[in-house]
Amino acid sequence: MKYIASNFTLPCGAILKNRIAKSAMSENIGTLSNAPTKTLINAYEVWAKGNPGLLITGNVMIDRKALGEPRNVVVEDYTHFDLLKAWAKTVKGTDVHLWPQLNHPGRQAFGTINKEIVAPSAVPLKMGGVSKIFKLARPLTEEEIFDIIKRFGNSARIMKEAGFTGCQIHGAHGYLVSQFLSPISNIRKDRWGGSLENRARFVKEVYREIRSQVGPDYPIGIKINSADFQRGGFTESESMEVVQFLSSEGMDLIEISGGNYEKPAMVKGSRKQSTFEREAYFLDYIEKARKITDKPLLLTGGFRSVKVMEDALEEGKLDVIGLGRPFCLYPNLAQDIFDEKETCFEAPVPTIGIKLLDKIGGVELPWYELQIQRLGKGKNPKPNLPGIWALLNTIIGMLLKSFLKN
Ligand SMILES: Cc1cc2nc3c(=O)[nH]c(=O)nc-3n(C[C@H](O)[C@H](O)[C@H](O)COP(=O)(O)O)c2cc1C
Repeated sequence: MKYIASNFTLPCGAILKNRIAKSAMSENIGTLSNAPTKTLINAYEVWAKGNPGLLITGNVMIDRKALGEPRNVVVEDYTHFDLLKAWAKTVKGTDVHLWPQLNHPGRQAFGTINKEIVAPSAVPLKMGGVSKIFKLARPLTEEEIFDIIKRFGNSARIMKEAGFTGCQIHGAHGYLVSQFLSPISNIRKDRWGGSLENRARFVKEVYREIRSQVGPDYPIGIKINSADFQRGGFTESESMEVVQFLSSEGMDLIEISGGNYEKPAMVKGSRKQSTFEREAYFLDYIEKARKITDKPLLLTGGFRSVKVMEDALEEGKLDVIGLGRPFCLYPNLAQDIFDEKETCFEAPVPTIGIKLLDKIGGVELPWYELQIQRLGKGKNPKPNLPGIWALLNTIIGMLLKSFLKN
C-alpha cells in the first residue's frame, strides 16, 4: 500500500494524510428546513473513524430557493451555525479533511420542491417521460448571476468559520456550473454564453469569489466533467482547456467525473470498452489531463479494486482516488485497505424493473442514500435492502417538501 497510504501536500499547503477520498454523495438527510441532522453528522463520524485522507460532503446548496433534493443541507447564512460546527467537529483530532461540496442545481431541480427554476437558458431537460418533473427554467439575469457567485463565496466562508477544512465547487454532472459550460444548456448571447471563454466565465468568477472570501491558504477544489457525452455538448477538449485555466487560477484539487441527468455517465461510465477493461471510468481522460496540468488530480467513478487504485497512483496518472458508492457499504474503506482486510469493494446496482427509473439511477441513488442513513443511525449497511424502499422514501420526501413549499 505504498502509494495509497502516502500523504500528499496540496498547492495551498494543506496535507491529505493518504490518497483515499470519499467523493460527494448527496445524503438527502437534512431536515425539511434544510439543516444538518444528527443522523447526517453521525454518518460523518463513522466515516472519519475509517481514516480516509478526505471526506467531501454531499452537495450543500448555496440558495434555499434552489434545491436538488428535498432534504439537502442549505448554507446561505448563519442559521444552524451550531449544527455546522458539530458537523465539522466529526473530524477533529483525526487529521481527516472535511470539505463541503457547494452546489446550485440550476435546471436539474424538481418543480415539486422549488417555486421557480433558474438556469443559464430556458432549455428543457430531455429525459423522456420523466422530463415533466423538471419545470422549464427561467434564464438568469446578470444581477442574479452575480448574486449566485457571491453566494458560493459566502457559503464557503461560513463553512470555513464552522471548522470545515476546505471546499469543493460542484462543476460537474449537469448542475448550474456545468450548465454554464455546456453549449447545450447555455445558449446565452451575452458575455456568459457563446465562446468557451464566455461559458467558463461563471466558474472562473465562482472560484475567484470563494478564494477572495476564504484566503490563499485554504483548499479549494472542483469536480468537473471530462465531457457531457452528448452530441453538441461540453467536449473533452473543452474540458481540458477549462482544467488548464483553473490550474493557472490556483485550484488545489481537480476531480474528474462526467455526465449529467440526461446522460448519467457519473455512475455508469461512458460505456466505452476501455472503461470496462480498466475499471475506473475516466482513466483515459485523466492520462491526457496529467500532461496538461501539474495541479493535483482526483479521479472518481468505478474504482473497486485496491490493485487498480495502487497502480494508477504508482504510474503517476493521478494523485488521489475518489470513491462514492463503496463508502456506503464499506464505511471503514481506507482503514480496510491499510489493514489489508479487503482487496475489492463491490457496489451493487439496485433496480426495480421500471426501465425509465432504473436507467437514470432513480432507485440506485436513493438506495445508497438509505445506506448512508443507516450509518448515521448506528446501523450496519444492508446490501440486500429492497430497491422499492428507496423509491418510497424519495416519493415521501418529495411530497412532504412540496407540501411545505406551498
Ligand atoms: C447516492 C449518491 C449521491 C451522489 N451525490 C453526488 C453529489 O452530491 N455530488 C457529486 O459530485 N456526485 C455525487 N454522486 C456521484 C459520486 O460522487 C461519484 O462520482 C459516483 O458515484 C461514481 O463513483 P463510484 O463508482 O465510486 O460510486 C452521487 C452518487 C451516489 C451514489
